[in-house]
Amino acid sequence: MKTLKNTPERIHCIAFSPINMDSISLRTRQKESIALHSYLVMSNLLLADLAASGVKIIPWSYIRPITDRPNLSDVQISHASIPLIDLHGLNGPTHSLVIKQISQACENDGFFQVKNHGIPEEMIGNIMNIARQFFKLPESERLKNYSDDPTKTTRLSTSFNVNSEKISSWRDFLRLHCYPLEDYMHEWPCNPPSFRRDVAEYCTSIRGLVLRVLEAISESLGLERDYIDKKIGKHGQHMAMNYYPPCPQPELTYGLPGHTDPNLITILLQDEVPGLQVLRNGKWIAVNPVPNTFIINIGDQMQVLSNDRYKSVLHRAVVNSERERISIPTFYCPSQDTVIGPPKEMVDDDHPAVYREFTYGEYYEKFWNRGLVKECCLDLFKVSNE
Ligand code: OGA
Ligand code: NI
Repeated sequence: MKTLKNTPERIHCIAFSPINMDSISLRTRQKESIALHSYLVMSNLLLADLAASGVKIIPWSYIRPITDRPNLSDVQISHASIPLIDLHGLNGPTHSLVIKQISQACENDGFFQVKNHGIPEEMIGNIMNIARQFFKLPESERLKNYSDDPTKTTRLSTSFNVNSEKISSWRDFLRLHCYPLEDYMHEWPCNPPSFRRDVAEYCTSIRGLVLRVLEAISESLGLERDYIDKKIGKHGQHMAMNYYPPCPQPELTYGLPGHTDPNLITILLQDEVPGLQVLRNGKWIAVNPVPNTFIINIGDQMQVLSNDRYKSVLHRAVVNSERERISIPTFYCPSQDTVIGPPKEMVDDDHPAVYREFTYGEYYEKFWNRGLVKECCLDLFKVSNE
């Protein structure tokens, strides 16, 4: 049989007109599928551009094994599943009721939503627009920010960690360090033109919200209100803008596979497209968007600081074939040299220390290098595993 040379034009033709493949032998098809994969992946650093090229099948590097797929029809759709807490009450006569609600949510769900959080609606709309505009910039403009080095403090990348993972995730993300602002702002993208100004305003407001929530969480654990604030040293604040393009085969892949967040606490803003799911009693629950609310979740370091009373819960993002989705998590973290361990106030004969002491820097490095595997990174720091 005559062998055809796999020029980019021919591979492109195979990719977009599968009908043309009818007369090609299976072996040739397999070879071409590999060539197609290389072509698509090599010619697009970012997923947004691969997705926008109109692919009807996803490259094999995105396909999860059958035992690890989202099973989209088996997900519980429920608003009641993660509590919605009204923060307005924190400053009034219902203060202790709100603290109780927070403590129960952190113990049972590891997740809650908040309303009356003090972040103006207009600012929420603005930050979403900025993210949307950023991911719509021409590829050459976006690529100015590209890096696959997880230690870089400002970078655009794709999937999770392209250097260590075996299967890719259907996501591009821009990740920024944002506290203290003056250390990092000069590295941020300057396109769209108001990016730095709008993102800086948003980060400052979110920091205010985080500090209030950290006080409430300290109090809910029976610690001094400023315990966590003092404990985490020079605070770290990172933000991601996650962009999940529409995916032609969403049942085969994830936007982000199940993981827990390695930091202290995460404040997530999502647009109006569903995609976030959290694990509850072994079942995945969809957390459908409620306008103008934030989703707050306990990260691994808070689980340690509560000596396992509060839970850093598995969650994931699924994708869909119709609409792109944007989410903007703020990851609040201890500084790299902060020593984390269960506080003495949380340890007694009935509750021995579950974790050894470690620095956040040690933890963070392990997290990025081992990839998003289901087993929580926390297990590596348990006293029982020493
Ligand atoms: C994350 C995350 C969920 C989402 O970025 O850590 O869990 O809905 N994102 O994008
Ligand atoms: Ni997460």
